[in-house]
Amino acid sequence: MNARSIALPILALVAHAVTADPRGVHAEAFADSTASFVEPVASSFTDSAMSDLNDPTRVIERGRYLVKVSGCNDCHTEGYMQGNGNVPTEQWLTGSAVGFQGPWGTTYPTNLRLLLDELTEADWLVRAREPRRPPMPWFNLSAMTDADLVAMYRFVRSLGPAGEPAPVAAAPGEAVATPYFDFVPKALSQVVTR
Ligand code: HEC
Repeated sequence: MNARSIALPILALVAHAVTADPRGVHAEAFADSTASFVEPVASSFTDSAMSDLNDPTRVIERGRYLVKVSGCNDCHTEGYMQGNGNVPTEQWLTGSAVGFQGPWGTTYPTNLRLLLDELTEADWLVRAREPRRPPMPWFNLSAMTDADLVAMYRFVRSLGPAGEPAPVAAAPGEAVATPYFDFVPKALSQVVTR
């Protein structure tokens, strides 16, 4: 069994689905539709989505919302899950030195505040869609629209750089000196045979 097939059931449990803003979804759906009876609605949705994107404060607010509901803090903000989300925004996304250990080795949630400070928006659109090791739900991030990814980028940049880089990932089987979550699923056969 390879690392990804082991990781998938875990991801289903711990990673949050990326939840798009309903207005964005509707705007896309309406924009795709050629049915004439929805056109008046389509233009009003599109106009409001466009004006959001042209208003820097609302784009940043939207980025904050997307980061929060798509679960980035759960891993990329130290103590966020343990504290039921009660971590001040200034500390969000500064990465974590608590690793996730599994057949892929030990990975650490990147400090996104430092990373995004070094990336242009165009770099981010590429970087955000590249495959990563577990438990990063990269497939969810890569499914986000450019507008959503840009909003998240602008929110993170508005916070500015902070914190230390996360530890470098360790190879499979390599011992680590940091704390880590044991991400090896147990008793999977029970699920398979049920
Ligand atoms: C279940 C834990 C988890 C969640 C949830 C999560 N990440 Fe990650 N993320 C990680 C880990 C661990 C890594 C390091 C993966 C590696 O080393 O290959 C990572 C890596 C990344 C990277 C790659 C950084 C680089 O060096 O290029 C980006 C970008 C990223 N995450 C963004 C996000 C965003 C945005 C969200 C919210 C949509 C998110 N992550 C949600 C755990 C998570």
